[in-house]
Amino acid sequence: MIIAIDGPAASGKGTLAKRIALHFGYPCLDTGLLYRAVARDCANAGHDLEDEAAAANAAGRLNPATLADPGLRLPGAGDKASIVAKFPRVRAALLEFQRDFAHLPPGAVLDGRDIGTVVCPDADVKLFVTADLAIRARRRFEEQAARGEAVSYERILDVIRGRDERDAGRPDAPMKMAADALLLDTSTLSVEAAVDAALAMITAAVKIN
Ligand code: C5P
Repeated sequence: MIIAIDGPAASGKGTLAKRIALHFGYPCLDTGLLYRAVARDCANAGHDLEDEAAAANAAGRLNPATLADPGLRLPGAGDKASIVAKFPRVRAALLEFQRDFAHLPPGAVLDGRDIGTVVCPDADVKLFVTADLAIRARRRFEEQAARGEAVSYERILDVIRGRDERDAGRPDAPMKMAADALLLDTSTLSVEAAVDAALAMITAAVKIN
């Protein structure tokens, strides 16, 4: 069974994907890490992130063993990822890895922006996880403040808004809800309530199909 989870930054989709994968005993692929790693490798090679050829080259050479790099989770890495993610040649270079991961038995959970629309249009269940922009920014702010980082809520709000616009506005594989996806709004839900809601939606969808 393939479970596709898409949604904007800080919607809770990553946490949900991991918990759902644990529940079903499936591996989980955070596909945002691929784009974060491409931006890292492109920058480390001395190239501008707006250089499509350099970014595509980094995507073609990406070593999946480097996805565990904690630097990929630092604030700023997601925003850089969304710059290289707009290039069709970058997206094309990462497609096969994601599809191969999804189709290994017994199943997989993948989270990202285009899993239900482009990577796995054949997924058994598709969730689109979202939350109000202000709530997503508040969550990020609290996470970063708890780590002792000097952050401004307004700055985080601006960065997330910009990233949403870039991801939803690009012509190739924009972030959007697949026509057959189920919508889960986590704005007012605790993590546990969101996990319960997602599992109930998946179980119901699998029974119907
Ligand atoms: O999910 P995460 O915040 O790690 O994603 C970082 C960026 O990578 C996103 O803002 C988006 O630009 C890009 N991305 C994408 N397609 C995916 C996953 C992530 O374009 N499937």
